[in-house]
Amino acid sequence: MLCIIITASVAAVATFFAKKHVLSGINEKCAFNTEDASCPVSCPQEPCDNEGTCVNGACSCNDGFAGSKCKIDVNQTCKFDANTLIPHPNICQLYYNCSQAVSPFPIDLETIFYSDIPQVIRPAYLHECPYPEFFSTNMSCQNYTDMKCGCRYETKNKFACKLCKHFNPDCVGFADGIHRNRYMSTPEEEYFECQDERNIYSGHNPCPKNMVPYNGKCTDLFEIKPSNWQRGYAIDCSNRTNGNYKSEHVQRCDIYYTCVNGNSTLTYCDSELVFDSKSSFCQNKTNVCTPCGSVVHCC
Ligand SMILES: *[C@@H]1O[C@H](CO)[C@@H](O)[C@H](O)[C@H]1NC(C)=O
Ligand SMILES: *[C@@H]1O[C@H](CO)[C@@H](O)[C@H](O)[C@H]1NC(C)=O
Ligand SMILES: *[C@@H]1O[C@H](CO)[C@@H](O)[C@H](O)[C@H]1NC(C)=O
Ligand SMILES: *[C@@H]1O[C@H](CO)[C@@H](O)[C@H](O)[C@H]1NC(C)=O
Ligand SMILES: *[C@@H]1O[C@H](CO)[C@@H](O)[C@H](O)[C@H]1NC(C)=O
Ligand SMILES: *[C@@H]1O[C@H](CO)[C@@H](O)[C@H](O)[C@H]1NC(C)=O
Ligand SMILES: *[C@@H]1O[C@H](CO)[C@@H](O)[C@H](O)[C@H]1NC(C)=O
Repeated sequence: MLCIIITASVAAVATFFAKKHVLSGINEKCAFNTEDASCPVSCPQEPCDNEGTCVNGACSCNDGFAGSKCKIDVNQTCKFDANTLIPHPNICQLYYNCSQAVSPFPIDLETIFYSDIPQVIRPAYLHECPYPEFFSTNMSCQNYTDMKCGCRYETKNKFACKLCKHFNPDCVGFADGIHRNRYMSTPEEEYFECQDERNIYSGHNPCPKNMVPYNGKCTDLFEIKPSNWQRGYAIDCSNRTNGNYKSEHVQRCDIYYTCVNGNSTLTYCDSELVFDSKSSFCQNKTNVCTPCGSVVHCC
């Protein structure tokens, strides 16, 4: 499946935990915020511990250190108590879990395919909440809608996900709904769904049978006007006089289209009735010509 990637931005995948990355993770709303107790404006008046850096008045900690002033040494804390959970000081999705030293991420898919990318350093104990959850200060992963990150940086993307650009595209800037995944070129079209600018689905057509994503929503193929790039079975009303018309692209007896000033509206006949082009309405089959009805000798 991976051979079908059509674009690959290798440059964008530097090491995740380089200090630079964490620095850019400092939440800007934190800057000099004296209202929020979780945002102690301490540095530079009181310097950060363990070589943490002061950014916008808050400490950005090196990997393996936590707390508002980077005082917590994760390795030491975990050695002392294996049940401890520690929120990552700067990034809301991340936390240290002392009972699991080997960090399960990032999944280095890309290094398999692009061997020139250096292996990332995996900070011990570091974990990411199941996307799109955040790590709450009550020490559990929570739905992002149910909690506040305070000073910690909120990213809308999955954090440790290097191939996300292709398989789970970034939803920032996208309206809620289903969009075509244009990073993938496959025989079957790929889609992704966004909610609150989070990617909540990626994969093949997620719609029920005979429906495809259209303008963000699952839409009946019979409602969609076909074009060069869009599959659909609706009729084009642009040059038709107002009235009811049978389906044309795919023969279907139980529907008809109403053209009004160039617009088409799809209507389903009541059950067991079929559309009769002669009368322009849905009728009992016994009154309608073949192939939809049973009247053989129509004139
Ligand atoms: C924590 O421990 C790991 C594994 O023993 C080590 O690789 C890492 O450098 C340590 N981190 C710090 C900040 O001491
Ligand atoms: C921490 O790790 C332990 C052991 O793997 C696991 O049982 C527990 O659920 C983890 N806690 C969180 C919040 O991930
Ligand atoms: C999170 O909460 C929102 C709104 O309450 C809900 O629509 C969504 O399904 C929830 N997500 C998860 C993963 O539970
Ligand atoms: C943690 O806080 C969230 C809201 O921030 C709440 O929904 C959840 O029940 C809390 N969990 C625990 C274990 O207290
Ligand atoms: C409708 O008619 C106009 C003018 O005759 C023509 O240019 C246009 O291509 C027609 N549109 C369709 C969809 O047939
Ligand atoms: C067709 O329908 C759309 C939206 O329902 C409307 O904005 C547009 O004016 C209609 N066009 C005509 C020619 O009636
Ligand atoms: C259609 O007509 C047949 C014969 O007249 C009748 O038995 C049947 O109930 C009618 N069906 C409907 C849906 O009206």
